[in-house]
Amino acid sequence: MQTIGVGVIGTGMISNQYLTNLTSFRGMEVRYLADLDSDRARAQAEKFGIANSGSSKELLGRDDIEIVINLTIPAVHAEVSESIVASQKHVWSEKPLATSGDSARALLTRAEAQGVRVGCAPDTFLGRGVQRALQLIRDGVIGEPVYANTAFMTPGPEVSHPNPEFLFAAGGGPLFDMGPYYLTALVQALGPIASVNAAASTSRAQRTIQVGPRAGTPFDVTTATHYSAQLKFRGGVTGQSVFSFDSALVRTGVIEITGTEGTLVFPDPNQFGGVLRLYRPGSFEPEEFSVDSGGLTRGIGVAEMAEAIREDRPHRASGDLACHVLDTMLAIEGSASRQSPMVVESSAAPAPLLAGGWDPRN
Ligand SMILES: NC(=O)c1ccc[n+]([C@@H]2O[C@H](COP(=O)([O-])OP(=O)(O)OC[C@H]3O[C@@H](n4cnc5c(N)ncnc54)[C@H](O)[C@@H]3O)[C@@H](O)[C@H]2O)c1
Repeated sequence: MQTIGVGVIGTGMISNQYLTNLTSFRGMEVRYLADLDSDRARAQAEKFGIANSGSSKELLGRDDIEIVINLTIPAVHAEVSESIVASQKHVWSEKPLATSGDSARALLTRAEAQGVRVGCAPDTFLGRGVQRALQLIRDGVIGEPVYANTAFMTPGPEVSHPNPEFLFAAGGGPLFDMGPYYLTALVQALGPIASVNAAASTSRAQRTIQVGPRAGTPFDVTTATHYSAQLKFRGGVTGQSVFSFDSALVRTGVIEITGTEGTLVFPDPNQFGGVLRLYRPGSFEPEEFSVDSGGLTRGIGVAEMAEAIREDRPHRASGDLACHVLDTMLAIEGSASRQSPMVVESSAAPAPLLAGGWDPRN
């Protein structure tokens, strides 16, 4: 099998999980790490045994790298991904794809013109847990889907992230940070979203970093920190979603889909395995299925994209899917500020399920 050369731009917190996994995939070699902070890139290269590190410019000039993974902060996702595409390389971006619909669409158009791919996180829906839930829905286990209920509620990531400012700036907040996991799983289960109606609020204008070397540092909050949204899917199903960084009560990972013959509780859509529960009308005891991730976590979307490139077929965590999810989040934000419902113009088809036992390490 031909080895695909991979480079990474952005070697912060999440690069640890990516690099652990990317270095275990068959037919893939991580060849260069870049960051604005070259010491950070060098430290990660040493930690993961990667031969080269330095600047994005140098990375993009190399001809032994075909896929570049963009793990920078949301405010620069679009511009970094544009530079990757412009250098004739496939891009995998962390979520969200961009902070505006125009920049997301410009990226997809440019990539198509250049003949390169755009893939985007989340790839959690390719994890064995959500795949099993999608299989049950597609097999008709709950009958015809009727409505969905999702919840993500925490006190906010400043309690665990050492540099949390970007999570409270454009492209962040609970909607843009966590919405992609929930909305992507919903689109996979129920098809594209047609319109939304939402309300939002911001509990306080400043927060304080609580962990790491900068603990005690205050910073400004420029996004809403609580959203409640009603969703209408093109197929007629309805949904309600809460995304909050304002809740002392932690309630995360909630996705429940109710159909004419039952309610299926998904595993956490920000995880790759977990417990599924199936409730039948009139029965209080659910059937439970525990699905192990099999160690396949963040980065499996990149492996699936690499496989699709080799096999010359569409990849599953596509730019079009990420663009539809971004449009949905922008519509939720717009609806909340205008206090009126908004139509989501774009669409995306649910991806085919992965073959049982799919494992990019073998
Ligand atoms: N931290 C998590 O648990 C987590 C989980 C899932 C997804 N993500 C996503 O991953 C992305 C990165 O998150 P993180 O937590 O690793 O952030 P981070 O702040 O820890 O790391 C971001 C890195 O990108 C670098 N960077 C910023 N702009 C750059 C540019 N223009 N060129 C080169 N390097 C640049 C920074 O120097 C930094 O090292 C975000 O989109 C986030 O939503 C994070």
